[in-house]
Amino acid sequence: MTGLTTLGQFIIEKQADFPYAKGELSRLLRDIGIAAKIVNREVNKAGLMDILGDAGSTNVQGESQKKLDVFANDQFISALRSGGECCIVVSEENDEYLYIDSEISKNAKYIVAMDPLDGSSNIDVNVSVGTIFSIFRRKSTEGKATLEDVLQKGVDQVAAGYVIYGSSTMLVYTTGKGVNGFTLDPSIGEFCLSHPNMTIPKDGHIYSINEGYYTHFPDGVKKYIKYCQVEDEATNRPYTSRYTGSMVADLHRNMIKGGIFIYPITAQAPNGKLRLVYECNPMAFIIEQAGGFASNGYQRILTLDVTELHQRSAIFIGSCNMVKRAEEMMACFSPQITKTSFEGVVNIQ
Ligand code: AHG
Ligand code: MN
Ligand code: MN
Repeated sequence: MTGLTTLGQFIIEKQADFPYAKGELSRLLRDIGIAAKIVNREVNKAGLMDILGDAGSTNVQGESQKKLDVFANDQFISALRSGGECCIVVSEENDEYLYIDSEISKNAKYIVAMDPLDGSSNIDVNVSVGTIFSIFRRKSTEGKATLEDVLQKGVDQVAAGYVIYGSSTMLVYTTGKGVNGFTLDPSIGEFCLSHPNMTIPKDGHIYSINEGYYTHFPDGVKKYIKYCQVEDEATNRPYTSRYTGSMVADLHRNMIKGGIFIYPITAQAPNGKLRLVYECNPMAFIIEQAGGFASNGYQRILTLDVTELHQRSAIFIGSCNMVKRAEEMMACFSPQITKTSFEGVVNIQ
């Protein structure tokens, strides 16, 4: 007896937390775990395979797709298709949502939104990448699920998680009852519980933002960055700056050590860069479940209206007190910024 709890065992044990559940969500999570292992296998030997570099295509957002973006997308879709618990998949890599039309999926109740490979620009240089997923129950009770079933607010998620393909590979997820992390043991090919009941410190000393865009940030963000850099013994400032370019990696580190991750609106990305449905909402759900907070600078991410599959949002996420402080700066120096007023603001250095 090893004393290890595998992801599969843990999911089954936790099924009792949901008296109405018939095991469908458990099976869905298991399917995601399987796809994650396959993607992990490819990420791990990426340098040896013809899998680095561009796939030669672009996604709906005009971003060039990496071969691994496409591979990861295919793996997750195929695991969800053969699992039979998912009726619709929304993916960063697909313009439209995808119906899973098969005999075994005809009664499927769940919708999965995902960023199959987060931080793809880091693949070719061997820096951690990730997968993000969000799970909803369809609202309609008959016929095919509809766009309305897909466009649910973050607060309606039933589960969310991420996989980080890092110095070790971890799967971290929540079903709304705390956050648990599992590390892949390659010798047995299983995710094993390594980080039970993860919590993010209320205060932190790390800020993560692409400071290269500094001049394009709203004043509230500029003021917050300056606040992080000022010396102050009482609050242990200056804080440390850490930014990898993979949101999953930056948030995972901040979750463990405490910190804030910011991707604000910028002059180039007036609605923000990150996608609400499969990047911001799932990460916000996980971080809130760990005791942190996520905001778009003014409003809780999880309560934002969702009107489009690939909708973007600004995000301030991480340790509660750090996010609250950043929100204060936004309220004070960039009150209710609008696209038009923002375009005016950015020219002022
Ligand atoms: P993706 O690889 O799924 O497109 O996501 C990349 C995201 C996110 O992971 C990261 O934090 C951010 O884009 C980096 O963007 P910048 O290079 O603009 O900082
Ligand atoms: Mn991403
Ligand atoms: Mn991606």
